[in-house]
Amino acid sequence: MGYLQSIGNRLSENTLLLFLRKEQNSNFMNKKKPIKRHAALQSLSRDHHHGLLLSWKIRKGFTKGISIERMVDYASWFFKNSLLAHFELEEKYIFPLLGDKDELVKKALAQHRRLVRLFELKEDNQKNLCLIEEELECHIRFEERILFNKIQEVASKEELAFIETVHSGLVFEDNWDDKFWE
Ligand SMILES: [Fe+2]
Ligand SMILES: [Fe+2]
Repeated sequence: MGYLQSIGNRLSENTLLLFLRKEQNSNFMNKKKPIKRHAALQSLSRDHHHGLLLSWKIRKGFTKGISIERMVDYASWFFKNSLLAHFELEEKYIFPLLGDKDELVKKALAQHRRLVRLFELKEDNQKNLCLIEEELECHIRFEERILFNKIQEVASKEELAFIETVHSGLVFEDNWDDKFWE
């Protein structure tokens, strides 16, 4: 029960955008000035905002005592309608900019595989939701703080411009009716 109480005390919805901005400016890999996020990666960062919101909604659902089924229904819908396409785009167009031998890419791919498994599991739903809440946020932190900064350093202008065009078709609309988090 301690865990369920503690997850409600983390980020609130209004602080999520601030959190993302801070993540993008955090600079513990080196002491250079914060790197401004390229427009191509900003569209992926908007997806990350929705991902962080999913974790927040799950935390909110637990603190409000919402049934696991309602939360699982929303999480599955979000996975199929937003997250999966985001993962596929990263794997097809973003990660190859660093190559499949890159340790950061290997870590991100392992996190994707693990998250896909958690979203697709049909048993132990409460435990899975807790793991999704925690691990999705962790994955997004890693991409925003570390992986995207490196991508931005190594990618050419042309490569970044191309990413912008491939992401443009992915506009997520959160039109799920059962807004259990409100
Ligand atoms: Fe990712
Ligand atoms: Fe991502």
